Amino acid sequence: MTDLLLGQVISFTGDPFELGEAAARHEARGAVLVENGRIAAVGPADALRVAHPRARITDYGDGALISAGFIDAHVHYPQTAIIASWGKRLIDWLETYTFPEEMRFSDPAHAAEVAGRYLDLVLAQGTTTVCSYCTIHPASVEAFFEAAAARGLRAYAGKTCMDRNAPEGLRDTAQSAYDDSKRLLGRWHGRDRLSYVITPRFSPTSTPGQLEALGALWREHPDCLMQTHLSEQADEVAWVRDLHPQARDYLDTYEVHGLLREGAVFGHAIHLTAREKARLAEAGASLVHCPTSNTFIGSGLFDMGLVTRGIRVGLATDTGGGSSFSMLRTMAAAYEIGQLRGQALHPAQLWWLATQGSAQALRAEDRIGNIAPGLEADLVVIDLASTPAIEQATRRAGSLWQQLFPTIMMGDDRAIREVWVGGRPLGRR
Ligand code: GUN
Ligand code: ZN
Repeated sequence: MTDLLLGQVISFTGDPFELGEAAARHEARGAVLVENGRIAAVGPADALRVAHPRARITDYGDGALISAGFIDAHVHYPQTAIIASWGKRLIDWLETYTFPEEMRFSDPAHAAEVAGRYLDLVLAQGTTTVCSYCTIHPASVEAFFEAAAARGLRAYAGKTCMDRNAPEGLRDTAQSAYDDSKRLLGRWHGRDRLSYVITPRFSPTSTPGQLEALGALWREHPDCLMQTHLSEQADEVAWVRDLHPQARDYLDTYEVHGLLREGAVFGHAIHLTAREKARLAEAGASLVHCPTSNTFIGSGLFDMGLVTRGIRVGLATDTGGGSSFSMLRTMAAAYEIGQLRGQALHPAQLWWLATQGSAQALRAEDRIGNIAPGLEADLVVIDLASTPAIEQATRRAGSLWQQLFPTIMMGDDRAIREVWVGGRPLGRR
């Protein structure tokens, strides 16, 4: 079956942090041709209709914007139920809310229920790919990948490894982390649309021995991603200094164990030294900006200027440290943090971060994150006037950006008209 989707279409031909608006391609009366799960063509509606007279047409109208689906590059699906928990900062928050909740994932039935619930929540927000931490329990990884496969999603995840500074019942060892990760990787990596991610939680909860073992596993499977946390909160950075007095800085605690190179994905990365910034750029590592989390847990203000140093930067909710499942809300928070730092991010930059930027951070830009021939057809259709407040704010809009920005700042799941996953619509809402 060939599908032709009509509406306004946004895609990117370059990086808006280099090129500004010129990096975006906007078809005001556009079309996306979808064939066999992939995007076959994008262009003006009239031309594509003539060229493909037998395609099944879905016309979303002028008030809809067809985009690549959102990519949430750093989440903890097991924290779904503790999202929006009050009053703690990082270390306290982990001990009070996170670890007790993650303990419950020793039960495979609980893991399966939350994995399905989580993925349905984010799909309703227009997110078609996530990169998730699981818990130390292998069953939490099985549950996540099974739920993602059942929905046809391209998804990234790994067993969260911790062998110190975590409660009894939530600790593995260097050897079991290596063995379990290796087995899960062998079972899931490259199956359907799934990728395994080697996942030490962060230096405070992994001994040097565990980091070394996971570095060895990564050398054996260099095409995997490796994800962890870096320099999120000042107290955490001080704790890492105490735990690793010989290290040059926080990043060095990963670097010495072979955990810094292309394919390394570091969440947060707020309190970086000059050496860390230089090494991250040199090594080709990726950073993930988690703006609602960074304000909610009180971590600090990410420096978006790092993008222009050639570092790949993605955008993420960081559920459940983040306070929303929505990438629209996450773009709004990124805008607000930019304002506080004197960097007013253009709507084109915000949209790029939530799609192509996150795809690049996950090294998946040849598959997802844009509308271009050959890419997988994971799409979101946005209603540009989804609430009375947004509708009245867009009435005099002259450009796509003026029309889109109120949805970025005020939009929620009501703005998500339809989601396409692997070339199939999930069902109109
Ligand atoms: N650092 C280590 N673990 C976590 C986590 O689960 N959430 C956040 N926000 N930071 C972390
Ligand atoms: Zn995290």
